Parts: sequence; structure tokens; C-alpha cells
Amino acid sequence: MSSSLISIVAAIILVTICVLENSNAQLSSTFYTTTCPNVTSVVRGVVEQAQQNDIRIGAKLIRVHFHDCFVNGCDGSIMLDNADGIDSEKDAVPNQSTDGYDVVDDIKTALENVCPGVVSCADILAIASQILVSANGGPTWEVQLGRRDSRTANRAGTTAIPSPFENLEQITKKFSDVGLDSTDLVALSGAHTFGRARCVTFVHRLYNFSGSGNPDPTIDTAYLETLRQICPNGGNGGTLADLDQSTRDGFDNNYFTNLQNKRGLLQTDQELFSTSGDTVAIVNRFANSQSDFFDSFDQSMINMGNIRPLTGSDGEIRSDCKRVN
Ligand code: HEM
Ligand SMILES: *[C@@H]1O[C@H](CO)[C@@H](O)[C@H](O)[C@H]1NC(C)=O
Ligand SMILES: *[C@@H]1O[C@H](CO)[C@@H](O)[C@H](O)[C@H]1NC(C)=O
Ligand SMILES: *[C@@H]1O[C@H](CO)[C@@H](O)[C@H](O)[C@H]1NC(C)=O
Repeated sequence: MSSSLISIVAAIILVTICVLENSNAQLSSTFYTTTCPNVTSVVRGVVEQAQQNDIRIGAKLIRVHFHDCFVNGCDGSIMLDNADGIDSEKDAVPNQSTDGYDVVDDIKTALENVCPGVVSCADILAIASQILVSANGGPTWEVQLGRRDSRTANRAGTTAIPSPFENLEQITKKFSDVGLDSTDLVALSGAHTFGRARCVTFVHRLYNFSGSGNPDPTIDTAYLETLRQICPNGGNGGTLADLDQSTRDGFDNNYFTNLQNKRGLLQTDQELFSTSGDTVAIVNRFANSQSDFFDSFDQSMINMGNIRPLTGSDGEIRSDCKRVN
């Protein structure tokens, strides 16, 4: 082989390796170390202030992060408003009242002041989720960073978001479609240890479940009475109930004890324990050990945050989370 042929072959191999590297680009916890060293403290300042006015802000933002990751990966697509060529995901039915976008805007503004054009909106959701889970008593994990923001939204793709009317098999399928397993499903459902849900999302369990003429048999009778008071038959579907009625704003493992006591709020919560399958043992394990729950939750947040991120030179760093640049 001539030496020029060898160098051509070598060059082709090198380019191929670079392309493969790029398409597999990994997130990293040190992504902003040189470009925006204070990113965490800046986000912390804004969200701690926001929490003074809204105890639910952590619940709201982690939920936006979840809905973002399940549609086209964690690419900030959920935050785009309607515009020319953009059908906002916020207008799809499964948005189910996602909220907290104004706080995302405040974080973005604060970050653009210290390191303009550097931190993506998709990463803001991951960072804010970690800070607020931890601020509410939950664990701390090493947030993986380096996501970039999409230039498009995918309203039709919001059907990938799990619905509270689905059964365990359907929910499990939606998680496995994005590479998450049963442990991820149970651990991440543990985010329902804080926040609220509207009556419309669970009232079908209270009076005439699946056309049976009776309530869902997997609801504890005293808890059923409580929920019927909050959500009368045919009443206001917008009324809020606590996802975890034992410690409504604390991030802890009581969610799992609730499930053991037939006190899960959503059908999809209670099925993790009341429908036989591999999730039952995981619920029991997390109910028995908060540190087991926290360890799994940390890993599962990283797994969820790794769903198809845009990296390298894909996408962009939006200067306004609601609009493409
Ligand atoms: C397993 C499938 C899931 C289903 C079916 C589901 C469904 C729901 C529903 C119906 C609500 C109430 C929304 C409303 O009233 O409009 C809710 C709230 C919430 N969800 Fe989920 N969810 C799931 C998984 C997750 C995951 C993976 C996370 C985060 C890691 C999460 C975090 C939250 C939080 C924190 C709230 C309360 C939000 C607030 O107070 O505003 N959920 N979820
Ligand atoms: C970063 O934070 C440190 C300590 O919180 C502060 O002293 C420094 O001025 C900040 N730097 C920038 C660029 O904001
Ligand atoms: C969610 O979608 C409904 C319409 O389906 C819309 O009225 C509502 O404003 C949307 N929520 C958000 C936060 O954009
Ligand atoms: C429950 O729902 C079924 C099917 O929708 C209906 O036929 C039945 O009349 C309802 N029962 C009651 C008590 O409302």
C-alpha cells in the first residue's frame, strides 16, 4: 500500500470516529466549569426566591423537565410558545396544566446576565429540578449537563407522555420506549411525593370506576371519603388535591407507604403496588428504606435526563426559552 493511500484511509477512519463520537456525545457534570462556573448558584438564587412565593415551584419544574424529556428527548421543546412553524407542546392535552414557565424565564434572564448564550433551557430544567428536590428534603445528585435547545416543537409527539388514565402495562411501555425500566418508573413516580393534581385526573376512580357503578377497589375507604369531599361527583374538575396527603410538600418516601396503604392519588400511582408485577417489590423496597429510594431516584433522574439530548453543534442555546433564536 502506498503511503498516500494509508494516510487517506487513516483520515477516513479518523473522520468516522469523530462523527460517531459526536452522535454519541455524552453529557457531563463539568460541562459549564469554564464557560459558566456560577451556573448552579445563579439558578439556586432564583429558585430559592421563587419558592418563597410558591411552595410548589419544585414540583412544577421537575414535571416540566419530565414532559420535556418524554417528547423528542430533553431538548427544551416543551418551553416553546406558538409561533410561525411552532405548534406549542403546551397546547396539547397531556400538558395537564404544566406550570412554572415564568420562573424558567427568570432563571434564563439571570444566566444571560452572567454568561450570555451559554446555558441551555433544557439544562436549566435539570439544574432547577435537582436544587428544588434537595431544598424540599430530597437527595442531591450530580446533574449531567451539556444539552442544547431544539429549534422545533412536536405537539403530536406529546402522546408519548404517560396519562393518568392508562394502566400499568401502558405506562411501563411508554417508559421502556424511552429506555427507562421498572425501577426508573417506580423511582420517578416517587416525584409524586410533592405537588398537587386536579380532580379531573383522578375523579374517575371515586364514583363509577370503569363503569362498575363502584369506586376503584384499590382506594382505602377513609381516603375515599376524603377525596370525595375534595372532588364531589360532577364538581369542579380544577380543584387540587395533594399527591402525597401525608407530607404534601416534603420530598420523602411516604409516597410509597401511601401506596402500601391504598392511599395513592392517581390510578397510575396505586397500580404500581396494587397490580401484580415487578413494581410491587420495588415499592416495598422504597417504602422500607428512604435511602434506597433516594439512591434510585438520583440514578433515574440521570437516566431520564439522558433521553436523546441535543449535543455538540445540534440545536442552539436559546436566549429566550419561549422562542427559537
Ligand atoms: C408514571 C407516569 C406519570 C403519570 C401518569 C403522571 C401524571 C401526573 C398527573 C395527572 C399530575 C397532575 C396534573 C394535573 O393536575 O393536571 C401529575 C403531577 C405531577 N407529576 Fe406526574 N405523572 C407521572 C410521572 C411523573 C414523573 C416521572 C415525574 C417527575 C420525575 C412527575 C412529577 C410530577 C409532579 C412533581 C407533579 C405535581 C406538579 C404540581 O404540583 O404542579 N410525574 N403527574
Ligand atoms: C461567582 O460566584 C462567586 C462566589 O459566589 C463570586 O465571588 C463571583 O463574583 C461570581 N462570579 C461571577 C462572574 O458572577
Ligand atoms: C394546555 O392546553 C390547553 C388546551 O388544550 C390550554 O388551554 C392551556 O393553556 C395549556 N397549558 C399551558 C400551560 O400552556
Ligand atoms: C357507570 O357507568 C356505566 C358505563 O358508563 C353506566 O352504564 C352506569 O349507569 C354508571 N353507573 C352509575 C351508578 O352511575
